[in-house]
Amino acid sequence: MSLRSQPLSFRIYSGAVLGVLGLGFLLAFVYLYASEIRPHQIQGHGLIQGVARTYYGDRTTTRLENVLKGSMADTVNPDELKAFKVWIKNGAQKEGFDKVAPIVTNNCASCHGEGGTLPKLVAYDDIAPLARYDTGVALKSLARMSHVHLLGIPMLFFMLGYFFVKTRWREGLKAALVALPFLAVVWDIAHWWITKRYESAALGIILGGAMMGLGFAFQWFLSVADLLMALPKPPPEG
Ligand code: HEC
Repeated sequence: MSLRSQPLSFRIYSGAVLGVLGLGFLLAFVYLYASEIRPHQIQGHGLIQGVARTYYGDRTTTRLENVLKGSMADTVNPDELKAFKVWIKNGAQKEGFDKVAPIVTNNCASCHGEGGTLPKLVAYDDIAPLARYDTGVALKSLARMSHVHLLGIPMLFFMLGYFFVKTRWREGLKAALVALPFLAVVWDIAHWWITKRYESAALGIILGGAMMGLGFAFQWFLSVADLLMALPKPPPEG
């Protein structure tokens, strides 16, 4: 069995599908680099840390704390800073806001009042969004991303595998490689959810992605090679 020995129409069919899939795969790499890898590089994060930030977030600090320790540091004294920290630590709830509301009115409103050009910081609703820990991608987005990937990616591997199992290579190799990306996509998406809860699972996402990429690359190259390479000559009869 091989793609090479199929009728012309089937060879054209497989060549066309493999060509477009290969192009899509290359562009997926470009996109992955531009959207996931490069931005984290710019922020000085490693790959694992960057992936963890996406799914788990950065739960060590909030925008408000950063600003109060940074550019707005001279607008609060240590006690006021502490009051902000306690409020943030308790979840930046509306109930406890009365503890920091006077500070906001006295220390911030002069510049961040109504109608100015600076971000308005007067009421609870103005401040609260700045006082949330970054907990990574929202659950709703995670659910959306999960179902799109779980339904979409196996379709690609279904197409690729359809040709790959018809190649001349060893049955054991084909059996292992054809299953790999399907396992990898489930593994990968499971680790998105685990990482949402446990930061340390980010490595699992990278491994899952790598398995998927390798599974694709091997099947693609072996299929294209099978399509292009001449068949071995049958042994002479007699
Ligand atoms: C003397 C005027 C002044 C006071 C008082 C002041 N700010 Fe600001 N604030 C600024 C200016 C100017 C900017 C924009 C420039 C910047 O980001 O440094 C700013 C920006 C900010 C930002 C947006 C920064 C960002 O990068 O997102 C936040 C948040 C903020 N201030 C919070 C506060 C809080 C909280 C207080 C009170 C504890 C406060 N500010 C008091 C002048 C002030």
